Amino acid sequence: MKGLVLSGGKGTRLYPLTYTKAKQLIPVANKPVLFRVIEAIRDAGITEIGVVVGDTASEVKEAVGRGKRWGVNITYIQQSTPSGLAHAVKESREFLGDDRFVMFLGDNCIQGGISPLIEQFGRSDWNAQIVLTRVPDPSQFGVAELDDEGRIVRLVEKPKEPRSNLALVGIYMFDQSIWEAIAHIKPSWRGELEITDAIQYLVEHGYRVFPYIHRGWWIDTGKRSDMLDANRLVLEELEHRIDGFVDKDSQVTGKVTVEQGAEIINSVIRGPAIIGEHARVVNSYVGPFTAIYHHTEIEDSEIEHSIVLENSSIVSIPHRIEDSLIGRNVKIHRSPIKPKAYKLMLGDNSDVGIL
Ligand code: G1P
Repeated sequence: MKGLVLSGGKGTRLYPLTYTKAKQLIPVANKPVLFRVIEAIRDAGITEIGVVVGDTASEVKEAVGRGKRWGVNITYIQQSTPSGLAHAVKESREFLGDDRFVMFLGDNCIQGGISPLIEQFGRSDWNAQIVLTRVPDPSQFGVAELDDEGRIVRLVEKPKEPRSNLALVGIYMFDQSIWEAIAHIKPSWRGELEITDAIQYLVEHGYRVFPYIHRGWWIDTGKRSDMLDANRLVLEELEHRIDGFVDKDSQVTGKVTVEQGAEIINSVIRGPAIIGEHARVVNSYVGPFTAIYHHTEIEDSEIEHSIVLENSSIVSIPHRIEDSLIGRNVKIHRSPIKPKAYKLMLGDNSDVGIL
């Protein structure tokens, strides 16, 4: 079985962070979502992994490499145009051949990995397996309608009036029947070849498609609130591990990871939280559900339920920062220069909430 990871797209809902970085590379609990996806596939015993890339190809390739660090082989597939998930699969034909494969969207985060799913599909004679989960807002996703026996009746992409609350999770398993399906579907109203339509074709033409209902958490990390939710959920599962330095005046409680080279000086860290490599936290408070990435500095400040990316610094901020997603190389500091005023230099589409 092979793996196919989709890592194209523009990530418009995460502007301005995604002007300069692929959305799949934004870390959740200090590890890019895309790395978590690759690890989940590797943990299920799959070592041949294709990564479909688009406009952000060069940075994805630079971050992921050939896969050696995970003990897998990565092959890159350049999608010619961003024309949908089924189009991405179509352009991966040469890599996939006639093998069975699992496709995993590179911005999806799921509890518990995919090993049981892969094992189940590997043992079965189903043509495809999809993963469904109950969500409060199904119209944002592909939605499945099942009959009383739990068989799939219909799949619809982002329906205005959803017939159920079962959303399609971005993890799909196929055999070679998918090639016939993709050859027969037409672009949707949004001009894309939808994988949902290809699966609907399989259902209509008598192929066996198994709906697996996932009961843990699942997050499609498209927006700031999704990133913060995923960060919170993954942090809750992290272990307490102190590889960096914590001085005797600091208090570290709960599930806290302090990575190598990090320094905690005269500060309070209340978990679940993670402090990245070579980060410095001085005279500060870092509260629950916070991920401070590598090479950052938090000084004389308080922060909680937030993500801070590399090389950023937060210094002498009088109010606690919460619910924030702070990009790379960002400086937040007090400005003593008169007039007393907010002095901002923000990228396009930034979003600042002030007291
Ligand atoms: C895609 C699929 C959708 C699925 C979702 C999961 O949506 O088209 O069916 O529910 O991924 O993340 P998109 O991210 O293209 O809006």
